[in-house]
Amino acid sequence: MDMIRIFCPATVSNLSCGYDVLGLALEQVGEEMIIRKASDDQLTIRQTEGPEIPLDPAKNVAGVAARSLLDHLGIKEGFEIEIAKRIKPGSGIGSSAASASGAVWGINQLLGAPLSTMELLPHAMTGEAIASNAWHADNVAPCLLGGFVLIRSYDPLDVIQLSFPNDLALTIIHPHIEIKTAEARTLIGDKILLKNAVAQWGNLGGLIAGLASGDHDLISRSLVDHLAEPKRKHLIPGYDEMKSVALAAGALGFGISGSGPSVFALCKGMKKAEEVGEKLAASFSPLNIAFDLHCSRIHTEGIRIIP
Ligand code: HSE
Repeated sequence: MDMIRIFCPATVSNLSCGYDVLGLALEQVGEEMIIRKASDDQLTIRQTEGPEIPLDPAKNVAGVAARSLLDHLGIKEGFEIEIAKRIKPGSGIGSSAASASGAVWGINQLLGAPLSTMELLPHAMTGEAIASNAWHADNVAPCLLGGFVLIRSYDPLDVIQLSFPNDLALTIIHPHIEIKTAEARTLIGDKILLKNAVAQWGNLGGLIAGLASGDHDLISRSLVDHLAEPKRKHLIPGYDEMKSVALAAGALGFGISGSGPSVFALCKGMKKAEEVGEKLAASFSPLNIAFDLHCSRIHTEGIRIIP
């Protein structure tokens, strides 16, 4: 195989109570990449659509991730990475993670899969790190592995795929403003009050228990964020209003997707997600900020080959 065409899912991370440790993959939203073996030993990046991204492989998340993987394997071959950038950078739904993960997953396939998907994670994280200035796996892990994942530990890296009810669906509103993850992370600081930490880890445990047992009420009351939401929500116009609208319309929970500006509503069933989406769109429209609306189930597969 000299060429591979892949779909890399968009991802929602944090999920309110899981800052840096929870993420899930979306089924209907993502970007496409084509990766080809090159005739020389160079890495090249080409872009076929979407907002402009750096094409220098040393400055591109896909290029940096690919270089990390090739150096690790001691491979001298070159590759051409063609990206159809359908997830806007700075959107909060894992744009850089999709590119970094797609590059390492696709190259690994073209090399005959010397590494497991789990072993690809640190290389995807190396690419992701140049976009967010931090070492976090809560977008690359669900993008690579699919489903709903927990990063139990970063040192050593320990990623757990969680069970979850198959009727969960998400509504995403992506306002067309850009929030740089690196900047949004500086708002969090490095200290948390003990009472907030206790509330946060209670909710994290509750959410995982609720996902495992299919207890939608427990999922709903656990989707509370005492850490990032209070410090970041002012960056997102209309946030409090959208949250009230989503919860009144029957969403299980509402929060910031990653570092924003996208927001998510987690719902029971696609019909409810679409209904909540209509109400959120009606609430956000008067702000006169362009936005995208997505409704999606959770993608169980991770990156997949497009035939
Ligand atoms: N956990 C990261 C953050 C996700 O909130 O900064 C960034 O997409």
